Amino acid sequence: MIIVVFNQKGGVGKSTISTNLAAQSAKLGHKTLLVDLDAQGNSTHYVGFNVSEKSLTVADMFKQVVGIFRTAKKPNAFVHATPYENLFVMPSSPALAEVERELESRYKIFKLKDALKELKDEFDNIFIDTPPNFNFYSKAALIAADGFCVPFDCDDFSAQAIERLLENAMELKEDHNPQLRLLGIVVNQFNSQAKLPRELIETLKQQDLPVLESYISATVKVKESHSKRMPLPFYLPKHKVTNQIAALFEELNASKT
Ligand SMILES: Nc1ncnc2c1ncn2[C@@H]1O[C@H](COP(=O)(O)OP(=O)(O)O)[C@@H](O)[C@H]1O
Ligand SMILES: [Mg+2]
Repeated sequence: MIIVVFNQKGGVGKSTISTNLAAQSAKLGHKTLLVDLDAQGNSTHYVGFNVSEKSLTVADMFKQVVGIFRTAKKPNAFVHATPYENLFVMPSSPALAEVERELESRYKIFKLKDALKELKDEFDNIFIDTPPNFNFYSKAALIAADGFCVPFDCDDFSAQAIERLLENAMELKEDHNPQLRLLGIVVNQFNSQAKLPRELIETLKQQDLPVLESYISATVKVKESHSKRMPLPFYLPKHKVTNQIAALFEELNASKT
């Protein structure tokens, strides 16, 4: 199953959620790939992978697509092991920004789908982290995916942006990927003491939006695990927020069928 974590707003938890879901999947023994399509490379960093001059990144795969690199490497040449068992990464690079216009002008939007199709047999689960834009890379990810989930950080502006986001995604589904499914909205940075998050979530539900039941709490442990470069299932296997990630993983898994 290929799952994209997408929201065109920055700072809502895309990298946190995609990395931790991938880590949870790997911890359960599933061979898992995390594809980092954000040039900032937050999830590449979080998963403990050090990009060196020699590492082949997802940007290099796209450079091959447009002929900047005259190589013919298979998609798995751009996949690397992480410090964690069963967890692999297709790392990002700042070069993603350089190659984007070339990819767009040459209509290469289906190339990620082709590459992941080859990798799908090798991996039990593939998670894709996306940039905070509805740009070439997030579109290519939604075209390549079976399903997507949308992190929501319990902020008023985010609630307003969700409707537009879903319209964009549904148009893309209609045009390019009819099998794409909205798996649900992931409530992140939840604070049960505050009134606003509950009100905002209620508003989403009233709009008939599929809000997933597993909320992810706001906790400093998330930031700690980022700085230690240890996703939560490995950093704090027994913490409440790790259990929430595990529950979210199960919920997404259940919605496969
Ligand atoms: N549940 C959470 N609790 C506390 N901090 C969080 C939580 N989720 C995300 N953050 C923090 O919020 C910031 C943005 O998260 P990130 O995953 O990078 O968002 P995005 O990828 O959407 O830009 C990061 O500093 C991250 O550590
Ligand atoms: Mg991010």
